[in-house]
Amino acid sequence: MPETVLVTGGAGFIGSHTCVELLAHGYEVIVVDNHVNSSPHALERIAKTAGRPLTAAYRVDVRDRAALAQVFASHQVDAVIHFAAHKAVGESVALPVEYYDTNVGGTCALLSVMREHGVHRLVFSSSCSVYGDAQTMPLTELSPVAPTNPYAHTKLMCERILEDVCDHLVEMKVLALRYFNPVGAHPGGLLGEDPRGVPDNVMPYVAQVAVGRREVLSVFGDDYPTPDGTGVRDYIHVMDVAEGHRVAVEHLDDRTGMRVFNLGTGTGTSVLQLVAAFGEASGRPVPYRIVDRRPGDVAELVADPSAVAAAWDWTTTRDLDAMCRDAWRFQERNPHGYAR
Ligand code: NAD
Ligand code: WQD
Repeated sequence: MPETVLVTGGAGFIGSHTCVELLAHGYEVIVVDNHVNSSPHALERIAKTAGRPLTAAYRVDVRDRAALAQVFASHQVDAVIHFAAHKAVGESVALPVEYYDTNVGGTCALLSVMREHGVHRLVFSSSCSVYGDAQTMPLTELSPVAPTNPYAHTKLMCERILEDVCDHLVEMKVLALRYFNPVGAHPGGLLGEDPRGVPDNVMPYVAQVAVGRREVLSVFGDDYPTPDGTGVRDYIHVMDVAEGHRVAVEHLDDRTGMRVFNLGTGTGTSVLQLVAAFGEASGRPVPYRIVDRRPGDVAELVADPSAVAAAWDWTTTRDLDAMCRDAWRFQERNPHGYAR
């Protein structure tokens, strides 16, 4: 019997790519998403890209315990991947209650419904933002955590809740994955990142400049202590993130309890290097101007990905060129995202 994986937030950027990866590996996949930050069109594109349908998709808010319980009652769920959350750092400062309610409240609701239905296997979306303004690179899972905004606090708080739950319920198996900077798109050109409004993140902004939706990229600061003065990040292809989740599901039974892993490549790339790589991959030079630093930004965030490599004998395989090429293919074929 194939395993059935319930994916919360499965219509979102990382969730949709993970659904394709799971379907391609024979899993039955159920999506729960309230579409607060995603288009239902993504669900059709998941099926088209994978060449197989989802088992089911529900428009349900993860905080709605009764509706969530109905979903669990309708299917034999073997494992859950929990992506559903709000994720914009700046917005989290303006709307902290909303962030705690959805990210922490949603996780608690999910855990209680999982428990009621005897489901003990969970992969949780955490974030490199839990490390805050770290001084020593690269970051290992043992590096100090020091969140600097409400969003990052919600992710660390969920990790703590999961630790306590695992201490209490000995049958629980939880993997929390701290992603660095997921970018790119499925190479098929149907699935990608489709942010609402003005993109917060650099890659979708660059792609929208290249396709002519926006005039110029603002580079936030060129006076950081980095080789070219612009911020350095560990960009990871979204298909590597998706593959990492499928491999995580395969390793859930390695042991009970809670484990935390970084999902990154170990390679740092500056904003100007990213702009140059995107121009090369798309054939369209990306105009930019240097502006002031963005409040709250840090100079550098790079993962040490060796723990996951040792545990699962798995590493990322897609380089910056593939990230830019695939992001560009999606942007060029879908200049206005999924909606039109
Ligand atoms: P996304 O916004 O594209 O996807 C999140 C999905 O969850 C969306 O489809 C949204 O509609 C859904 N959702 C939100 N609140 C919900 C609720 N209450 N009930 C049901 N569905 C709800 O974001 P993403 O980039 O795909 O991120 C997925 C996860 O990964 C999030 O937990 C995020 O915090 C985490 N993460 C993202 C990044 C990143 O840079 N993209 C980095 C680290 C961690
Ligand atoms: C990358 C670099 C910016 C936009 C965020 C979250 C983090 C995680 C990943 C969820 C920085 C620069 C950006 C622009 C720019 N998400 N930049 N011009 O801030 O590293 O991480 O997404 O968990 O929690 O904080 O990503 O893509 O916004 O920025 O120059 O228009 O690009 O200063 O150096 P960030 P980002």
